[in-house]
Amino acid sequence: MSPKVSLLENPSAAAAACGERLFALVVDARRARGTAFIAVSGGSTPRLMFEWLARQSFDWKGVHIFQVDARCVPPGHERSNFRMLREALLDTLQFPAEQIHRVEGEAEPVLAANRYAAEIRQVLEPGLGELPIFDVIHRGMGSDAHTASLFPGEPLLADRTGVAAAVWVEKLREHRVTLLPGVLLAARHSLCLACGADKTDALWEVLRGERDEIRFPAQLGVDRTEWFVDRDAAARL
Ligand code: 6PG
Repeated sequence: MSPKVSLLENPSAAAAACGERLFALVVDARRARGTAFIAVSGGSTPRLMFEWLARQSFDWKGVHIFQVDARCVPPGHERSNFRMLREALLDTLQFPAEQIHRVEGEAEPVLAANRYAAEIRQVLEPGLGELPIFDVIHRGMGSDAHTASLFPGEPLLADRTGVAAAVWVEKLREHRVTLLPGVLLAARHSLCLACGADKTDALWEVLRGERDEIRFPAQLGVDRTEWFVDRDAAARL
């Protein structure tokens, strides 16, 4: 398999195309299993998709929404990924509280990561010794080719058994909680929305460069990920 790349004219079109695909996959999952377990990322590009999702008339019945990663700040903090998700999407939908699963960014990072991993296992109910399987994981990509909160050189990029962990991001001087590679790879479907001229070089490295997931974490599962990109991000492809 090779990466499926959808090239759209601009970030809004890419966000809409990614959102349409997310809807279709949610409908398939709910038809097959009665529920849909999705995990979504933070950041400015993902926000475009959430705002598009919020404008659509879609039946969210049976959908459980999780975070791919979180900045370890309180949920009302301006850097909080959950605050962004709540403002851009959840508040608009009156999403049932029991179907929203956030990282406790206000808690001590390791404690928050352990509690989050336990909640994921409790809700997704993986088999004994198996990883929880999300129906859809939506990821972003940073200009340094990070994805989730797995940044270049992060030792946990080699982890294939854990569910979630706390990481220290030196360049941002920030604690994060992130899903780990095994869970990202185990998802039934993986979508990545990457837009903007600041992502041009990273997207070329991830899709066309040498395979090195430590240097380019967004290469995790690259060949089975569906990419939604705009012309600026795709300028070198
Ligand atoms: C975060 C996420 C990061 C994000 C991408 C895309 O910023 O919290 O860890 O992976 O999803 O960087 O976001 P931007 O479009 O803001 O770069």
